Amino acid sequence: MRLGPSPGDTGRFVGAWSDLAGVGRDHLRGGYSRHAFDDAEMQLRDWFTEQATRRGLDVETDRNGNLWAWWGEPAPGAVVTGSHLDSVPGGGAFDGPLGVVSALLAVDELRLRGLTPARPIALACFAEEEGGRFGLPCLGSRLLTGAVDADHVRRLHDADGVSVADAARRIGLDPAGLGPDPARLATVGTMVELHIEQGRLLRAVDPAAVVGVASEIVAHGRWRLTVTGQGNHAGTTAPADRADPMIPAAAAVLAARRVLATHPGAVATVGRITPVPGGTNVIASSVSLWLDVRHTDATVTAAVVDAIVADVRAEAAAEGCTVMVQRESMSDRVTFDPGLGLELSGRLGAPVVPTAAGHDAGVFAAHVPTAMLFVRNPSGVSHAPDEHADAADCVAGVRALADVLETLVGDINPAAGHLGAGDE
Ligand code: GLV
Ligand code: MN
Ligand code: MN
Repeated sequence: MRLGPSPGDTGRFVGAWSDLAGVGRDHLRGGYSRHAFDDAEMQLRDWFTEQATRRGLDVETDRNGNLWAWWGEPAPGAVVTGSHLDSVPGGGAFDGPLGVVSALLAVDELRLRGLTPARPIALACFAEEEGGRFGLPCLGSRLLTGAVDADHVRRLHDADGVSVADAARRIGLDPAGLGPDPARLATVGTMVELHIEQGRLLRAVDPAAVVGVASEIVAHGRWRLTVTGQGNHAGTTAPADRADPMIPAAAAVLAARRVLATHPGAVATVGRITPVPGGTNVIASSVSLWLDVRHTDATVTAAVVDAIVADVRAEAAAEGCTVMVQRESMSDRVTFDPGLGLELSGRLGAPVVPTAAGHDAGVFAAHVPTAMLFVRNPSGVSHAPDEHADAADCVAGVRALADVLETLVGDINPAAGHLGAGDE
């Protein structure tokens, strides 16, 4: 595979990328806050629709709010590529949009090569991949594939109390239509998602590698812990009279770090904590905190959660508080199609690496041959404003994706002798 970008390629990438730069900036937290169906995400959807239409692709929104742009008639056996446009709160620019922009530019690249695909290609933008608004990651792909109950989803709500059903209505979707979409799923023959690498595994395996191929996604899930105590005055309540839910909540934060010493390979994070009512001079009446736990083995993931909850319960008992635990999501370990992964790794000369980040591709992997490409991220930082990939590496990612699509769809007229990967 050719990795050296020509100035024209870099210019194309930078041009497309700059369209997104101003959309959904979070001036309070830094980075971007683009959440499912909010104004910023809708603006990006409009941008995608416009870009796809300009390329002569037919764009449609499925009944779960996922966007699809078709090169060729929708039909079983399509090769699907894309990612998501939403972000975590205060997230980086690349997680999600890089896969979408790369998909559009890969179409350009294939056309430059003169390819006429023998199978349809679809570019997809999946809704609420991060779960940043309604709490359930990969919402659109889970609904489409039937991996989550639609009634449960309709009742989920965001921090302002807006339900998924109401948010769907706002963008013109019929909430009753949310749920499994077997006809749509039947069109997906193969799925390839390109993504910025999150973490430092690619660099550890091969410091020179610009693009990697994913082997697996580790098991991961989210749990909400609600600790309830007695709201009271911060100044006048004697220590013995306190039932402060912040104390067991603090135990959760510390346990999430300490438990890792006895569970090698696991990670646990409390990234969000909400005291109610939340006043400096108020002992909270309750505290909600969200726990994110990941390990290759789902049984270890469960053991880590149990150990943290045990610490919280012990602290709660001593403090006179109660604890409620709700599992909000769970994704078992996903192994991507090993044959496809090896083929793409060989085709691209790219190392194969696992990841502990969740993706829509992981949801589709249970149904169709699925692969992921990772683009080098020098610092490994992700889900934060400092997330970064160099433009030249992103261009290499576009080329790699085009190579993969070309391999997977085949050319309707191979005798035409179009330009192959690495030529131009
Ligand atoms: C999504 O990026 C996740 O891994 O949580
Ligand atoms: Mn993410
Ligand atoms: Mn992502």
